[in-house]
Amino acid sequence: MGTGELWEYEVGTMIKLSNRLKLLASYVPQESIVADIGTDHGYLPVYLVLKGICPRAVAADINQGPLEAARSNILEHKASGLIELRLGNGLEVLQPGEVETIIIAGMGGGTIRDILTASPEVAGTVKRLILQPMADEMELRQYLLKSGWTLREEDLLLEDGRLYVVMVAERGHERVENPVLLELGPRLVEKKHPLLGLFIAKRKEKYHKILAGLAQSTLPEAREKAVGIRKKLQEIEGVEACL
Ligand SMILES: C[S@@+](CC[C@H](N)C(=O)[O-])C[C@H]1O[C@@H](n2cnc3c(N)ncnc32)[C@H](O)[C@@H]1O
Repeated sequence: MGTGELWEYEVGTMIKLSNRLKLLASYVPQESIVADIGTDHGYLPVYLVLKGICPRAVAADINQGPLEAARSNILEHKASGLIELRLGNGLEVLQPGEVETIIIAGMGGGTIRDILTASPEVAGTVKRLILQPMADEMELRQYLLKSGWTLREEDLLLEDGRLYVVMVAERGHERVENPVLLELGPRLVEKKHPLLGLFIAKRKEKYHKILAGLAQSTLPEAREKAVGIRKKLQEIEGVEACL
């Protein structure tokens, strides 16, 4: 994901970090101990410790292959003393209170939600979640707000023609009743994020494609589904009109 750019942290030593990963890094509080769950290549924890943003980090993945890729990157960039590698599922690799910030990026919103749900004792002791779902943002927002998190910040990034959504959650209480805000992102709508128009255009395109498919069917369920989608489109257009 992302073509990336070279980031120089020492004369002659380079690491590739995409703008997406850089954006995620920008939401990590200075001096916080971080866990990158589903780290894959391990670029993000390497950047965070070598930049001096984090004193140490946990880089975890459920699969051995990605963890080995992270190991070799960590070794190459001489960050072994600062990053601990852990093989395992989601937050099961962490002890409660062990880290202050958790990053989960590049997975579906449902998978991220399942990872958080499976380890309430770990998630409950974390100060900040930095999440970058590849899909199902609405479901993830719904879960966060129901589970004692507030959306501190949201961001959008366009890289290689793809729009990425970033959510920063902290402990707190927030109610968002309006489903269209849950779909588009309450913080993105509030600040009229410059990429929200593009996000809405892509979402509308997706719904129009679904409507075209449903129009081929004579089943009553298809008609009912189409009514729901038209209503969503109307609500989205209502937000669009205010941008
Ligand atoms: C698409 S990669 C994203 C890598 C990196 N986080 C990024 O954003 O560039 C997803 C990674 O998550 C790992 N993964 C998937 N499910 C996981 C889980 N339940 N626990 C830990 N890692 C998981 C996969 O093995 C894979 O390496």
